[in-house]
Amino acid sequence: MEKPLLLYIFLFYWHFLNALFTVEAPQSLYTVERGSNVTMECTFPVKGELMFRDLSVSWEKKDEIKKQVYSLLKGKEDFKNQHSDFKGRIKLLKENLSLGQSLLQITDVKLRDAGIYQCVIGYRGADYKTINLKVNAPYRTITQGVVSTGDNEWKLTCQSEGYPQAEVIWQNREYEDLTDKANTSYETGNDQLYHVTSTLTIKSSIDEIFYCIFRNKELRENTSAILHIADSADGVLWTESRRFVGAILIVTAFFGSVLLFMLCLRKARANKDNRTPVTSSSRAKVSNNKDTHDCRDVSFEEKELKYIQIEKT
Ligand SMILES: *[C@@H]1O[C@H](CO)[C@@H](O)[C@H](O)[C@H]1NC(C)=O
Ligand SMILES: *[C@@H]1O[C@H](CO)[C@@H](O)[C@H](O)[C@H]1NC(C)=O
Ligand SMILES: *[C@@H]1O[C@H](CO)[C@@H](O)[C@H](O)[C@H]1NC(C)=O
Repeated sequence: MEKPLLLYIFLFYWHFLNALFTVEAPQSLYTVERGSNVTMECTFPVKGELMFRDLSVSWEKKDEIKKQVYSLLKGKEDFKNQHSDFKGRIKLLKENLSLGQSLLQITDVKLRDAGIYQCVIGYRGADYKTINLKVNAPYRTITQGVVSTGDNEWKLTCQSEGYPQAEVIWQNREYEDLTDKANTSYETGNDQLYHVTSTLTIKSSIDEIFYCIFRNKELRENTSAILHIADSADGVLWTESRRFVGAILIVTAFFGSVLLFMLCLRKARANKDNRTPVTSSSRAKVSNNKDTHDCRDVSFEEKELKYIQIEKT
């Protein structure tokens, strides 16, 4: 009878001793914005001074494969086996270890950092906890476009980026839903961000307003823009600037041709002065001289050739 009892006592105490070493996660879910920093925390019991050489701390991410985020083995940091997803963005705040805190800091959080993390600690016992990290990207700025397609019809466009996927709701001034008349497309790049473009083609009179609302259900967040149908000031500016440019072009062309004419006249005079005495070689030179061709039309050249021939005879 004595042997099993001893075993029982031994097992009881062994369990008890091991149960003393428990890792806790004060917060099991972190939700952060893409591009920000996050510090996730686990705690473990430390009595007295921390013996670094007895301490092992590791953070792993559970994706399809297990990815090493951070590892400290028997007091020594090991970055060799760190997964490339985390290179240069991970820091364990070592000064907090002696307080029994394993604080993992991730800087410039990416959408792909989202997932389940395990914080494992070995220190005269071993235990772990899991922590969930969620990353979002709010639809902050909406780029809008209002284009007349003629006949009182307008093409309204709203465009924005974010995560997770948002639906786009369209409303008129009376907040009537026009969403089923709109076309919304979603594109994802390698950054996982949704590039959302929504287009509403609608008949409307001038001075109407429309709303496009990016509704991020998961974040319970709406971002909206007001589109104003107006006798577009942009359009007016555009035609005005076109007129202005047109006038400038005409003036430039006029003065340019006057200048060119005067240059040609001067060249012609200069040629006339140099032309005495004229030989057959100089006649060949005139017809081959490409430099003078640009300011001399055919009739001008013909006249000159005639002139040379007259002089020759
Ligand atoms: C994130 O942390 C890095 C390094 O500690 C710091 O330079 C940066 O300003 C922090 N960014 C934000 C958004 O707090
Ligand atoms: C949406 O786009 C598709 C393809 O571009 C087009 O065939 C369809 O008519 C559009 N729907 C609306 C409501 O504009
Ligand atoms: C977002 O907009 C939709 C549609 O207008 C509305 O039903 C919903 O309550 C709004 N949500 C928030 C958080 O404002």
